[in-house]
Order: sequence, then C-alpha cells, then structure tokens
Amino acid sequence: MNDLFLRACKRQRVERTPVWMMRQAGRYLPEYRAIRAKADFLTMCKTPELAAEVTVQPVDIIGVDAAIIFSDILVVPEAMGLHLEMIEAKGPRFLNPVRTQDDIDALRIPDPEKNLRYVMQALETTKRILGKRVPLIGFAGSPWTLAAYMIEGSGGKEWKHTKRMMLDQPELMMALLDKLADSVRLYLEAQLAAGADAIQIFDTWGGVLTPDHYKKFSLEYIHAIVAKLHRNGQPVIVFSKGANHSLKDIADIGADVVGIDWTIDMADAKNQIGEQVALQGNLDPSYLYGSPSAIRREVKSILKKFGKGSGHVFNLGHGIFPDVPVEHARAMVDAVKEESVSFHGS
Ligand code: CP3
Repeated sequence: MNDLFLRACKRQRVERTPVWMMRQAGRYLPEYRAIRAKADFLTMCKTPELAAEVTVQPVDIIGVDAAIIFSDILVVPEAMGLHLEMIEAKGPRFLNPVRTQDDIDALRIPDPEKNLRYVMQALETTKRILGKRVPLIGFAGSPWTLAAYMIEGSGGKEWKHTKRMMLDQPELMMALLDKLADSVRLYLEAQLAAGADAIQIFDTWGGVLTPDHYKKFSLEYIHAIVAKLHRNGQPVIVFSKGANHSLKDIADIGADVVGIDWTIDMADAKNQIGEQVALQGNLDPSYLYGSPSAIRREVKSILKKFGKGSGHVFNLGHGIFPDVPVEHARAMVDAVKEESVSFHGS
C-alpha cells in the first residue's frame, strides 16, 4: 500500500510529502456531479456502493495519497433522533432543533452497527475497491460543532441559540456535549473496526469561541473522545478551524496530527508543536482559483516553511470549493509530489 500518509501521521520517514484535500469527494468533480444528478446527497451517503464510488474518485482522478469516506458529520445527530434535510443551495436543516433538557433527554446514543450501519458498509465496500492502493480515513464532527448545528437547526453566523445556551445554561450545554462525546467516540470506534486506517475529527466551528470557551466547550470534549478511544495504532487527526490560539493545548490531548488553517504560518505552527505531533495543512482553499503556476509557488512556500523531515501531511486549510477547476486541484497534488522530494532523504 502507498502508506506515505500513515507514515507522515506518525512522523516516520517518507520519500515525499503525502497529500489529500478536505472535501475532496465533491461537486468540483464532473464525475461526482454525474452521480449526484441521479441521487440526492443523503441517498448517496446511505447507499454504500454510491458512497464508495465517489470516495474513490479523487484517488483515481486527482492522485491523492488518502481517501476519506464519503458521508457527512450530520449523520450522527440524525441517528440520535433529529430529522435532517439537505436543502439545495442552502445546506443542512434540522426540523426539530435541540433547545431544552427534554430535547436532550430525547436524544439517543446511537449504536453505530445498527443506526449508522450504512457508514460501516460504505467503509467495508470502499476498502474492497481500494484494495492496497491508499489508506482510508474515517471521520466525525466534534461535539461542539455538532451541538452548534443541532441547537441552531442549521448553519449559522451569530450562533445565537448556541451561544445563549452556552452562557445562560452551561450545564445544559455540557449535558448535550457529554452525550455527543459518547456518541462520537462509539461511532469512530465502529469506523476503525470497519476498516478505517485513520480518523479525523472536524471541529469546523471551534474558532467562533474565545480561547477560554474553546478549551472548555470544544477541546475538552475532543480530549474526552481521544483519551478513551480504543484503537490499534490508527492515527487521529484533530482539525479545529480558527483555533490557532490553542495549538499547544490541542497537541497535548494525545492526537497524532493537528490540522491547521491557512491563517497561521506553517513555520510558526511547526515551531510551536512540531516536536510533538504531525501537522496537516495549510494552503488557503481559495488559492486553487489562482493559476497552476501560482498554486505551485504557494505549495513550495508551505513545504519550505515546514522544512526538512517527516511529520507533514499536505492539505488545504479547509474544504475545497465546488467551483474550483479540476486541473487546479491536480496542479496542487502534482506540485506537492514533485516539489517535496528535496525535503526528504538522507
Ligand atoms: O471530505 C470529503 O470529501 C468527505 C465528505 C464530507 C462531506 N461533508 C460531504 C458533503 C465531509 C468530511 C464533510 C464534513 C462536513 N459536513 C463538515 C465539516 C468539514 C467542513 O467542511 O467544515 C461540515 C460543517 C458539514 C456540514 C455540511 N454538509 C454542510 C454545511 C453542507 C452544505 C454546504 C455544502 O458544501 O453544500 C453539507 C453538504 C455536503 N457534505 C456536500 C458534500 C459533498 C454537498 C452536498 C451536495 O452534493 O449537494
């Protein structure tokens, strides 16, 4: 197997820097849109053959060094009892948002083998199709990020209901986060059992909190998951977007890899935590709108800032945008593969 990704996660020696992209299975690929034209998003997630097919697409088409299972972070709240809809051009909606103790009591901690069986089947099918080509990443949302969608009922800007609950009824918020931490841990353990070679925790909205509240309401629960997670050496990646103020705290919870967005200099991140964990990132996803030669220049700059040695998984600093030209995504991957060779070796 091309295990460059797994070796870099463990800061073991590699011949070149491995690369994948958050949201790499998605609408920027015509091959994804062809399948999506025939099935809605949640049907794709719940049909293991379709999920497996689009999971493998970026490996074939772009040449990334890892696949990430096609699914969504919001299938967990759905399995807990919320009614999820993906509204075209608007994003996810929960019809029955969580606002009270009764709402929290009504949520169940899902049995992943039963209530999220289709994800396990998608992982198993994908592993079969991938064979020994590249590792497969499983994932989940962080408790805080999931709670924000569940309380709000949709994506937000002010996160009004979420912040109000956090400030006015912190015990209620913590009861919800506790339930989510248990649900997410069991879900990730099931994904590892189904064949995931690594897992990533997406904390997309950790960065809307002050540093104190980030530690108390987001990182603390990610820590609880990672500390208790039964695993067999599979690496754990933690990506808290916008939480550059707390890199050292994130590195301290026992994750193998810390994902960083593009608003911190890679050399700075490496100075802070590079002796402790591997780093994943951090090209600005908007830079894929630039020309292939500009993309190559920016890739080189990040590789150079990380410098010599292992422990770097190249990625975007957040998900790829749906209207990026496919050739530009490929230009990034090619540039990483070619330009990184000189940073490895004896
Ligand atoms: O990375 C991958 O390729 C795996 C697939 C993946 C999806 N969602 C597919 C998806 C992953 C890892 C996610 C995670 C996810 N989902 C996050 C965390 C990561 C991040 O990007 O911040 C969040 C916040 C969500 C919630 C979500 N799902 C939103 C806000 C939306 C709507 C916005 C959008 O991009 O349309 C989704 C839908 C979604 N999830 C799509 C895909 C490919 C688009 C659905 C479509 O095809 O219409």
